[in-house]
Amino acid sequence: MDGRVIGGRTVICDEAIIDDRICIEDHSSRSHDRSPLGDILKGLMNDPREISSRFFYDDRGSKLFDQICDLDEYYLTRTETAILDDHANEIIHDVRDMDIIEFGSGSGDKISILLRAMTLEQRTSIRYVPFDISYHALLDSARTLTKRFPELTVHGVVGDFITEAHLIPPDRPKLFCFLGSTIGNISREESIRFMNGCAGFMDPGDSFLLGIDMVKDIDVLERAYNDNRGLTSDFNRNILNSVNTHASTDFDPDVFEHIAFFNREKGRIEMHLRSTVDQIVSSPHLDVPIHVRKGELIHTENSYKFTDGFIHAISAHSGLEIQNTYSDDQGWFSLIHFRKGGES
Ligand code: SAH
Ligand code: TRP
Repeated sequence: MDGRVIGGRTVICDEAIIDDRICIEDHSSRSHDRSPLGDILKGLMNDPREISSRFFYDDRGSKLFDQICDLDEYYLTRTETAILDDHANEIIHDVRDMDIIEFGSGSGDKISILLRAMTLEQRTSIRYVPFDISYHALLDSARTLTKRFPELTVHGVVGDFITEAHLIPPDRPKLFCFLGSTIGNISREESIRFMNGCAGFMDPGDSFLLGIDMVKDIDVLERAYNDNRGLTSDFNRNILNSVNTHASTDFDPDVFEHIAFFNREKGRIEMHLRSTVDQIVSSPHLDVPIHVRKGELIHTENSYKFTDGFIHAISAHSGLEIQNTYSDDQGWFSLIHFRKGGES
């Protein structure tokens, strides 16, 4: 256990020095705001029932997600990767002596593109701060990155970016990265609040690189979440294994079907699990077992799609200036580079 003073109070966390390049602060066991068990039970009692998407990313879930990223149907990863490749030099040209903080960093593949574009001197001067809910994904990516870039220092933070973004290390100038349209997995209101919160941690001159998936042809959108190999179905149903681990429930993922469709009115892909049988789900933490009816849906995820209008709304609410917008030829995906204005 270690202590760090944040906003005038000491925050206790497990801090592991992995080697002379990697250090990881783990806040997951100390987080009281949203205990996994309480969060799961509350969601399961809701009408309609729901499971928070942060439970997707156990070990198997993180690996399945990496495989989804390689799918033909899942255009998001290759499109964003190509945009990053094309504009990396411009994005990183003044990156020096700062923290690069990446929310939902996952495998670390995308940050590699920016790191590769930097000079050795730039890479030596910065610190990479991946912030993810998955300890294992974080450690794996830190090891891969420091092997690829031996001069890189990684200071990982294991935590929930929705409730714990304040845990980012203070003091140094910052470049925030939030890629993969992960911001689309929280509601419009939450995403505005999230960006406002981040703007509050930024000093003039700091910047924020946001990757978002744009509204497009419904067939293209729906195919991305209904792949032929059934990996998205495995990923969606695997959330029940993760729920079983956290809440000692006895869900059988095999009696649920993966459902994903575009909700045009709300501008989002919705993911659900449909029960194929009438069933009783129990847990020692439940006073009364849950009766899940045949055909009943459990809501697991939203993936909001974006428009230029919403990008401007983020800018207007947070006060962050849009410095650059990068996109592919079809306008399917956008990378927005925001900057905090004022005297630096
Ligand atoms: N940035 C990568 C991975 C996106 S998948 C890419 O663009 O491909 C989403 C990532 O966010 C996963 O690594 C997952 O573990 C993490 N994540 C999901 N919900 C989170 C939360 N509430 N707090 C912190 N990390 C979260
Ligand atoms: N951020 C990703 C997205 O919205 C997450 C994701 C991709 C996902 N495929 C999924 C979530 C399948 C649940 C199920 O595209």
